[in-house]
Amino acid sequence: MALAVYVHIPYCLQRCRYCDFATFEWSEILPPERYVPQVLDEIRRRRGFWPQTEIRTLYFGGGTPSLIAPELIVAIKTELENSGFRFLPDAELTLEINPATLDEAKLNTYMEAGFNRFSVGAQTFNDRLLKVCGRKHEARDTHETLRLLGQYALNYSFDLLFALPSQSLAELDEDLAIVSEYAPPHLSAYCLTVPEGHPMSRGRAPEEEQVAMFDRIEARLRMVGLAKYEISNFARPGLESRHNSIYWSDESYWGLGLSSHSYSREEGPFGLRFWNPKNLAQYEKQSALGGESFQTLLPPDQWERLEMHEAMTDFGHMHLRTMSGLPEDAAQGKFPKPAVASLTARLKELQKRGWVKLDNGRWRLSREGQLISNKVFEELTFLASDRAPDGLTLLAPDSYCAV
Ligand SMILES: C[S@@+](CC[C@H](N)C(=O)[O-])C[C@H]1O[C@@H](n2cnc3c(N)ncnc32)[C@H](O)[C@@H]1O
Ligand code: SF4
Repeated sequence: MALAVYVHIPYCLQRCRYCDFATFEWSEILPPERYVPQVLDEIRRRRGFWPQTEIRTLYFGGGTPSLIAPELIVAIKTELENSGFRFLPDAELTLEINPATLDEAKLNTYMEAGFNRFSVGAQTFNDRLLKVCGRKHEARDTHETLRLLGQYALNYSFDLLFALPSQSLAELDEDLAIVSEYAPPHLSAYCLTVPEGHPMSRGRAPEEEQVAMFDRIEARLRMVGLAKYEISNFARPGLESRHNSIYWSDESYWGLGLSSHSYSREEGPFGLRFWNPKNLAQYEKQSALGGESFQTLLPPDQWERLEMHEAMTDFGHMHLRTMSGLPEDAAQGKFPKPAVASLTARLKELQKRGWVKLDNGRWRLSREGQLISNKVFEELTFLASDRAPDGLTLLAPDSYCAV
């Protein structure tokens, strides 16, 4: 199966108050002209890990990829080609862009390089709330970005944040009215998540009102033709994010750049995960490591072979995030019988609580389950010490061949 590639660009106009991603205010770290060569080097050094020669999705995220010179973005794409990858003719190439960082010349460079999907960090169209978030752009910058994308009839998505401190239901409605006017091909709506005690955890709508916001977003988007296909994602039919769908369907992906995560399902029996450091100095140091395999190229604390209980946990969580759900028989091809029985038994328990439902052979989160998805996923987390319903088989590493 052709590969999905993610590239992390850690530069931002400002550090938003709520953000926990590995990103920096652009002037505070090494310039992009020194960061990008490290990513090119990473491609050259690790290309040999992958049996694939084709790429089906490429996603530049961050951070703010549209903040750096577009030629640097193109250089990364070109390096993938020079390293022996071919982009499938219908490959999806997405770039995250922030309002106030895009102009027509940049957009033309992206389009000439083959980028065909843009994800706009709008967050809200309310200038007061943009300030609450610590964003530097204003709503008019977002409108300008969207006008430019519309001029070229490009495929795009918005990111919308809701349940912000002091945000009322009426203010969310105003955002949704603007979104409905644009009727974008795709939208991601995220409920603000901050740890307890964080300054932005105060002054937020009470829980019942947040639930009303969640329902309001879904209903309003449905009216303009966007269907929910994942807990936080909505799209017109056929315009779902192919890249993100790969994360939710147990397919391999390669993450390049600071803090990126990768997953190879080909490395048996249950796949291999590896990741880059979040710290820039450590990321730079990695270039000094040489060798042919994961074991020599990566420090031991940056990769792990998944054990069966971990793979079952990921498999359940990822499939259930999607509205198409977990097909009853999907686990059977991947896991031994006692493991499948454990997964089914756990899902049946959650069904009794009304958190998941089974229709047409697929397990799906109920509306209540979606509202408390973190709790559902906690209940659907397997440990090596868990036993299958037969009471005998452990979900430990040495029970792989219990099929
Ligand atoms: C990593 S950001 C990159 C996009 C772009 N830099 C931006 O902020 O506009 C991806 C999205 O994650 C969402 N996000 C970031 N921090 C969040 C948080 N604490 N809670 C919920 N969503 C968050 C925002 O909607 C953001 O657009
Ligand atoms: S612009 Fe996006 S990635 Fe950067 S700090 Fe803000 S939310 Fe995080």
